[in-house]
Amino acid sequence: MAKKTETLDGLYTDLLKDLYSAEKQLVKALPKMAKAAQSSDLQKAFNEHLNQTERQVERIERIFSEMDGSPRGKKCVGMEGLVKEGDEIIKETEKDAMDAGLIAAAQKVEHYEIASYGTARSWAQRLGHDKAARILQETLDEESRANEKLTKIAESHANMEAR
Ligand SMILES: [Fe+2]
Repeated sequence: MAKKTETLDGLYTDLLKDLYSAEKQLVKALPKMAKAAQSSDLQKAFNEHLNQTERQVERIERIFSEMDGSPRGKKCVGMEGLVKEGDEIIKETEKDAMDAGLIAAAQKVEHYEIASYGTARSWAQRLGHDKAARILQETLDEESRANEKLTKIAESHANMEAR
């Protein structure tokens, strides 16, 4: 059995590796979600978030390069499950309901990331990694804005249907 994590420092490093894996999985998943999206505003939101996600991957690489470590070596099983749920929606949903399903799947992803980055930022602060804490806050803010944007798109779609 692998050695158990003993310190907050260890938990912090593991969480960052997990987030790195999560973001990399998302870089692969978002183009599929953009392709499945029916409306141009949702397509655009997914493509924009893909660009952001690529920068978020680089930010984690930057944090590790300053710790002289590698972000590789872990698979985020939480994101793996969420991406699978998204795949299910794409396969099992008719066109008319597709965007609502995709938004729901994407918001689960954002909430997962918000929880993880919130913790990572707090642990970075506690451990005195001020620069990393600032970098993580930047990504956390992006994830929050991405989530709010999805809510707005869902609302505008609902309004269009009501009309
Ligand atoms: Fe992200």
